[in-house]
Amino acid sequence: MSTTLPTGDTKVADWLAHPVAGQVMREMLAEAGQSEKTLAPVKRFSMNKLVKISGGRFSQELLDGLVAETARRAADPSAPVAAASSDEEPSAPVAAAAEAPEWEERVTDGRFTGKTVVVTGAGSGIGRATAARVAREGGRVIALDISAERLTQLAAELDGLDVTTVTADVTREGDIARVLEAAGDRIDALANVAGIMDNMTGLHEVADDVWSRVFAVNVEGVMRLSRAVLPRMLEAGAGAIVNVASEAGLRGSAAGVAYTASKHAVVGMTKSTAFLYGPSGIRVNAVAPGPVITNIEARFDSELAQERITTAMAVLPAPVAAEQLAASITFLLSDDGVNLNGAILPSDGGWSAA
Ligand SMILES: NC(=O)c1ccc[n+]([C@@H]2O[C@H](COP(=O)([O-])OP(=O)(O)OC[C@H]3O[C@@H](n4cnc5c(N)ncnc54)[C@H](O)[C@@H]3O)[C@@H](O)[C@H]2O)c1
Repeated sequence: MSTTLPTGDTKVADWLAHPVAGQVMREMLAEAGQSEKTLAPVKRFSMNKLVKISGGRFSQELLDGLVAETARRAADPSAPVAAASSDEEPSAPVAAAAEAPEWEERVTDGRFTGKTVVVTGAGSGIGRATAARVAREGGRVIALDISAERLTQLAAELDGLDVTTVTADVTREGDIARVLEAAGDRIDALANVAGIMDNMTGLHEVADDVWSRVFAVNVEGVMRLSRAVLPRMLEAGAGAIVNVASEAGLRGSAAGVAYTASKHAVVGMTKSTAFLYGPSGIRVNAVAPGPVITNIEARFDSELAQERITTAMAVLPAPVAAEQLAASITFLLSDDGVNLNGAILPSDGGWSAA
């Protein structure tokens, strides 16, 4: 038996491979009616990272409990120990990937110094990671979200950096006016990140309220805020807009009809705006994320969609951390994206190449 006990810094894969810690973890999962398959997408992350990205589902208390129980059993020779097992043996290249070092965000000092950047959906997930990255790289961030509570948490996390929070709904003109007021005369960049999922229904069963709400946030929200910001960028003769589309903006097999159509609309809006305003110094691009671990809610309300989409998702890559999407978004927002306009950049670990 390995004498080194795992800690919060241990990768999930190594934790599961440890004879004592792995057994403690499997028992905990079984109690919750789950198996280690649940952890397959996050095997490359450390346990501490899992706490950070799980949105409360895997708490620090839970991790502390696992560490304590592992130590207790390791010290007790009569405690049962299981051989490390796995639900399914990974292929050699996949196992090697699980061994690869964890990706770490590296801040580029001063990349956004002197720039005012508006970020929507900044209270959670990809928007939050984008706002944090821009602020850490010297930018002045106008962080907006519909949730005041989430913005309070963001402000606390980024204390000392130049972040102005605005509680605003991107679907409301009045709220957008308050965002512009907070930003002032000059807006250098805009990241339209806020978005919601649908309930994975197809066209014969989609409900009016799902269709309307998904289009209101994902399409109208992007249109309204960009329309409000563009005159300032035109006046300055410069600006960068990054829209967050989705893999569902590129294919028909990643979500229900409302979300898929809404993200195709985002792709169209990105290309039209890039084409029309490129000569005026404004770059408009989009990222199309694959699966990302965030608080976005997705549920299947359709048996047909569940069967078809689950089959198509067989080649889905492992979900990544929101900071990995922020890396793509901030690249396009920054001057490093100088020659990119109208690009729809898949940030999906290669899913779109399948
Ligand atoms: N998570 C994924 O796997 C994934 C994949 C592809 C695309 N996306 C896209 O990424 C974007 C961000 O999603 P996420 O996964 O970070 O989700 P998230 O739910 O973690 O964060 C979205 C944030 O947007 C806010 N928001 C929702 N409606 C709003 C409104 N009307 N006005 C202002 N703020 C509002 C929410 O309060 C939340 O804080 C979305 O456009 C989503 O469609 C996500």
